[in-house]
Amino acid sequence: MAPARKQTKSKYTIDRGIPGAFEGETVTRRRFMTGTVHGAGMLMTAGIVIPSVGFALGPVFKNVTLGWQSVGYSDSFPDNNYVPVVITIAPGIGEAGKSTVYVRRRDPAVDVEPETEYNQWVAISSRCTHLGCSVLWVPAAEHFICPCHGSVFDVEGVRTAGPAPRPLDRFYTRLYGGTVQIGPRYSVNTELRAFSPRDPGEPLDGLGQYAYPSRPSVRKLPGNV
Ligand code: FES
Repeated sequence: MAPARKQTKSKYTIDRGIPGAFEGETVTRRRFMTGTVHGAGMLMTAGIVIPSVGFALGPVFKNVTLGWQSVGYSDSFPDNNYVPVVITIAPGIGEAGKSTVYVRRRDPAVDVEPETEYNQWVAISSRCTHLGCSVLWVPAAEHFICPCHGSVFDVEGVRTAGPAPRPLDRFYTRLYGGTVQIGPRYSVNTELRAFSPRDPGEPLDGLGQYAYPSRPSVRKLPGNV
């Protein structure tokens, strides 16, 4: 015995006995209204979500490459005290894009990390590695002190107290035409090993160096992780 043929439902609403159906109508008004409301809802959600995601993720992929900046003649910087200088770290936004860097001449008695042509002057970032407040160099105490949550860093920028997860960041330096120039920023771990720049709050000791990789847009410098 042949299997019974399945009755196919008509696509016309009038054939399906739907009240108020029109001749030739295939979509019920209820379904049409539901689809319209869902479509409008999706459009409104996309209008909020897409700009928010772009705003949050955009800076991660923005590649800002700054050139070397001259900050003073080579004899302006002693080896036993820091001199604050101001450099531009984010061009195009005026004063907000400037930052203080503490610079001194390298002192072989203090600076024991391998000597290169890019660390003859030590340039320490003033941005605290806890949450980014500005640290102050206090010559009498020979320490950097963060006024926000009390992190303290020694003369090499290594944390000695407070919640900061790693030493203060540094900048490459070089001598160019008799002036000291500040180059790209880099981060260091407690042994002062150089890493590509990290954001505040990101530790670099132990598993931290793997848990907090540098941003994809960051230019990796030779020897940096
Ligand atoms: S921002 Fe410096 S200790 Fe919190």
